[in-house]
Order: sequence, then C-alpha cells, then structure tokens
Amino acid sequence: DDTIEVDLSAIAPGQQVIVKWRGWPVFVQRRTPDMLAALRAPGLDQRLRDPASTIMQQPKDAANWHRSVVPEIGVYVGICTHLGCVPNYDPPSTADTSGHYACPCHGSQFDAAGRAFKDAPAPYNLPVPPVTMLTPNRVQIG
Ligand code: FES
Repeated sequence: DDTIEVDLSAIAPGQQVIVKWRGWPVFVQRRTPDMLAALRAPGLDQRLRDPASTIMQQPKDAANWHRSVVPEIGVYVGICTHLGCVPNYDPPSTADTSGHYACPCHGSQFDAAGRAFKDAPAPYNLPVPPVTMLTPNRVQIG
C-alpha cells in the first residue's frame, strides 16, 4: 500500500506543505479565493504551454480548470518537468495574490495549478497524483 494521508487542518489559506509520496515531494496547498480567481485571469491561458492540461494528463476527477478534486485544495508532484529540481513555492502576497512556483535550476515558472509558463524550459505541467478527499480536512494521496 503506497497511499498516504495528509492532515489539511494545519495548512493556512495560501500556504502549502510538502509531503513524501513514493519517494517524491508532493505539494499540498490550500488556496484562497484570490488564488482561484487568478487561475482564470483574462489572458493567462495565452502565457501557458498547455492551459487545459491535454499533454500531461491528470486523473479524471482533476481534469478541470483548477486541476484538483476540490478547488480549494491543490495537490501536485513537486518535480520540475524540465530536469527534476523541486520548484519553490511563492505564496500569495499583497503585490501578487496568485501564488505560484519558480524552479531554482533554470527558471521555469508554474501557476498555482502546476501549469507551466511558456517562457521557460519546463515542457509539461506538474503531474497530479491520485487524490481522495476523506473528510474536508483529510486527504489520501495514492
Ligand atoms: Fe526546473 Fe530546469 S529543472 S527549470
């Protein structure tokens, strides 16, 4: 059994924790309404490589605009799709309420739904692992 359970109650809005699943770092974020709005900001799709995530598939129940089972909770394998570094999370701030990721190795950028921006080397969006919401504050990964 390679499933893990994560307690979401300690994750403040806008923050994330990194857990280990199958030896991989997995980002588990709690999104704010502003972060969710930013995923649908006008003009964003044109800046993303694969805005609808047609290339790097995710489980069916995460094949939606927020790439997650429930909009408020995002879960992504935290391995850059360029050469495998772990992207850093930049939580929402007053200057930028979107929350996003920046890879320290060659500058790839991902939005809060793990979607890769065009102007950097990462070719695919971050993968979404299988996720089951056990309760509103408890999630199973795997
Ligand atoms: Fe992330 Fe190269 S490994 S940009």
